[in-house]
Amino acid sequence: MEYRHKPVLLAEVTKHLSLHPGSIVVDCTLGGAGHAKRIHDLIAPTGFLVGIDQDDAALVAAADALRLGQQGILLKGDFGELDTLLSEAGLAYADAFLFDLGVSSPQLDFAERGFSYHADASLDMRMNPAGGGSTAADVVDSYSESELTRILREYGEERWASRIAAFIVAARARRPIRTTGELVEIVKAAIPASARRTGPHPARRTFQALRIKVNHELEKLDGALRSAVRWLSSGGRIVVISYHSLEDRIVKNVFAELSRGCVCPPDLPVCRCGMKPVLHVVTKKAVVPSAEEIEANARARSAKLRAAEKV
Ligand SMILES: C[S@@+](CC[C@H](N)C(=O)[O-])C[C@H]1O[C@@H](n2cnc3c(N)ncnc32)[C@H](O)[C@@H]1O
Repeated sequence: MEYRHKPVLLAEVTKHLSLHPGSIVVDCTLGGAGHAKRIHDLIAPTGFLVGIDQDDAALVAAADALRLGQQGILLKGDFGELDTLLSEAGLAYADAFLFDLGVSSPQLDFAERGFSYHADASLDMRMNPAGGGSTAADVVDSYSESELTRILREYGEERWASRIAAFIVAARARRPIRTTGELVEIVKAAIPASARRTGPHPARRTFQALRIKVNHELEKLDGALRSAVRWLSSGGRIVVISYHSLEDRIVKNVFAELSRGCVCPPDLPVCRCGMKPVLHVVTKKAVVPSAEEIEANARARSAKLRAAEKV
């Protein structure tokens, strides 16, 4: 199947990355290179692009779309290990970093990856299946009812979290839950019919929560952002697009902390911590897609972009 993913907030990304020919750019979530292709054009002919993804299918599609030659390198890896990846690539610094978080359209659309509630497949959801680790089936089969409730409530913002967790625990006592289709049926049974009549697919929030858990999406973000800021050249930019309020909160907090500098209590007459601001936040409010973009690309609807510049 063809790898199709429409880049979100493309014009805003390139504007806030503030690129010019010769820039060294790291795209930490390469996907099918939708953003990277435009970045590559803007930094040519002397720029250098490092593209990172943990998903083999994304790297294959991106290599085909970009044809980088001497102008860059694609790395398979987890942006949670950014320092190692960039050191091994021989980079000394970068002028811009892009994080376009979450999953790509093909990851959702290729049924066999187990991310989709629209098709029946093995309940997997790992972005890097070759890397081992727990699948979504392992999570629903082994976590306690209270842990499942917390995951669904926190990562899925699911108001029926405790009912869904109770139904999962009851269902798995009969037989293990192995497929996306089985999970969808359990979620549907757990949510009262009146609440299922309107809004998005009833299993959307449950699937999102499990995906975030399986891929440790929130756990890696804080460290990866701080690491990227350390690699940035002075005046360099970091741009992050998030699709979930918890992700956006992490981005906002890291940017706020690194742009504040001093962390002494306000009643201290002189600064004792000696910490100086390392970032200047460029987007006072998160940038969101226009109504036209959301109309053309439903997956853009929850996107929030924040950008900052290294002082
Ligand atoms: C929203 S897509 C990016 C799409 C891309 N910007 C484009 O326009 O084609 C997110 C990508 O980030 C990758 N990804 C998510 N978390 C990652 C991580 N921790 N390390 C490396 N790649 C990750 C996913 O595999 C996916 O391909």
